[in-house]
Amino acid sequence: MKNYTTLKDISNLSETIREAILLKMSPFEYSHLGKNKTLIMLFFNSSLRTRLSTEKAAKNLGMDVMILNVNDAWNLEFEDGTVMNMDRSEHIKEAAQVISQYADIIAVRAFPTLQDKAKDESEFVLNSFKKYATVPIVNMESSTAHPLQALTDAITISELTEKKKPKVVLSWAPHPKALPQAVANTFVEMMQDLDVDFTITHPKGYELNSEITKDSPINHNQEEALKDADFVYVKNWSSYNDYGKILNNDSNWMMTKAKLGNAKFMHCLPVRRNVVVEDAVLDSEQSVVIQQANNRTFAAQVVLKQILEDL
Ligand code: CP
Repeated sequence: MKNYTTLKDISNLSETIREAILLKMSPFEYSHLGKNKTLIMLFFNSSLRTRLSTEKAAKNLGMDVMILNVNDAWNLEFEDGTVMNMDRSEHIKEAAQVISQYADIIAVRAFPTLQDKAKDESEFVLNSFKKYATVPIVNMESSTAHPLQALTDAITISELTEKKKPKVVLSWAPHPKALPQAVANTFVEMMQDLDVDFTITHPKGYELNSEITKDSPINHNQEEALKDADFVYVKNWSSYNDYGKILNNDSNWMMTKAKLGNAKFMHCLPVRRNVVVEDAVLDSEQSVVIQQANNRTFAAQVVLKQILEDL
């Protein structure tokens, strides 16, 4: 693997999932692979799981890890040809090349503005690192995608499914803040690549990018969509068409034990209790969110392993 910025960078999904599950059983088997290699993780935004699980994954492979909260460093300029006489002190051209001198792999988290759709869709932060860095780039959640989370979710469904073709539902939930579409986008793309019976449910106005949802079924009736589900993935996202806006905060869309039926409850976390999902779900045996969070390590580890093997 040369980079991991989108799911397209996975050459063999079923083999990658199988390899991640093997790494979970034997996490230190490849601890020689990362010897004398350094992962630098760059955070433009907050993180709990991605930060800790990716560091743990790298250390399981024997790598050194350095972390930079980018907002503590020089303010970066991303535009070409700018006269840098304002508040931006360092251009991405130098920054990415300099960081590449200290790293064998660079991982980047950079959320969207949710103000400027075209700018967000250009993935200007992630793609600038890809353009100017001289080492592989890993996406730790960008404007439009969260491929480490989606790989985690595929691993978790593979581990837990009791059916050859389980029914999986992505269900929108209310949230007080405008959130990105990245997790939902990449979950949709991942479900399209797996052998699952997949449905998306959300209120009208919350359509994701149709170039991503393609022909995945969308049902605006949550109750109908959830019928006989084996896995229910709950996630809020802000409107894509009315970009970044909150159009609906109807608490009737919150996931409850009654709506969940016999399905497993999935969420990427962090999650707001009794807004997105009621306590009775999160505190039940049907919630697999902690197993998902654990699998973040092995999703990151299989990605780092495949990159290290290709260095
Ligand atoms: N799911 C996820 O990416 O969690 P963090 O934002 O805490 O990293």
